[in-house]
Amino acid sequence: MNIDAALQDIRSRLAQAKSVTVLTGAGISADSGVPTFRGAEGLWKDFRPEELASPDAFERDPTLVWEWYNWRRELLATKSPNPGHHALVELEQRCERFWLITQNVDGLHAEAGSRKLSEIHGNIWKVRCTGCGVVKDNRDVPIEILPKCLTCHGLLRPHIVWFGESLDPEDLHNSYEALRSCEVLLIIGTSGMVYPAASFGPIAKDQGAFVAELNLDSTPNSDLVDVAVQGRAKDLVPQLLS
Ligand code: OAD
Repeated sequence: MNIDAALQDIRSRLAQAKSVTVLTGAGISADSGVPTFRGAEGLWKDFRPEELASPDAFERDPTLVWEWYNWRRELLATKSPNPGHHALVELEQRCERFWLITQNVDGLHAEAGSRKLSEIHGNIWKVRCTGCGVVKDNRDVPIEILPKCLTCHGLLRPHIVWFGESLDPEDLHNSYEALRSCEVLLIIGTSGMVYPAASFGPIAKDQGAFVAELNLDSTPNSDLVDVAVQGRAKDLVPQLLS
């Protein structure tokens, strides 16, 4: 199927669906200039995840971990939502039932205006106290290293789900609910390598949803979805609404 026919197929499925769920990954923010994790230019090419994005790494060297997150915050502070993010806001407004599940921690979906949203890997603009557990917004750039809790003086950590940690139960509940009830699932800009998000396509497919993938390349999801379209999210997603 050529790209135009594939996009038309997805458009007509979206127009008929009462319930739509979207899963996004780093690819949708790549068009805003945010680096992805895997691939030739990906962050994990230069950095080892277990040295920077794990509870062990933070315990071993919180300064190193905070310096890395501060570097990412400095980069993200210069980035804005792109037409792909904005198109998903419009889709949310058009759909009777809609849920957006993102693996991205950059906050760009919320900044664009998405409200029916689970940020399942957390948000880089939030901090959590390792002592009292309080979560707060924090947009300091640069952030003080090491940042401390104003209430209990405990060490603050990024409010991110690191390797080896569990997802927030409410986020998981909302995500599974959305996957089980959707008629259409769009999977946009994720390599499909990280669980549990990697299982979301098969879950929606098994319960009868029409599943479409939009990605620059093919992924492990490409063979199981109903339609896989290759291209940039910022070009493809707005075309689903036209
Ligand atoms: P990856 O870096 O693994 O994959 C990004 C995907 O986006 C790839 O499949 C690319 O082909 C695709 N892509 C790149 N540019 C694109 C564009 N302009 N338009 C459409 N697609 C594009 O990122 P994720 O799948 O999001 O975890 O990675 C999942 C998790 O691994 C992340 O959330 C992160 C990381 O470790 C945490 O931060 C906890």
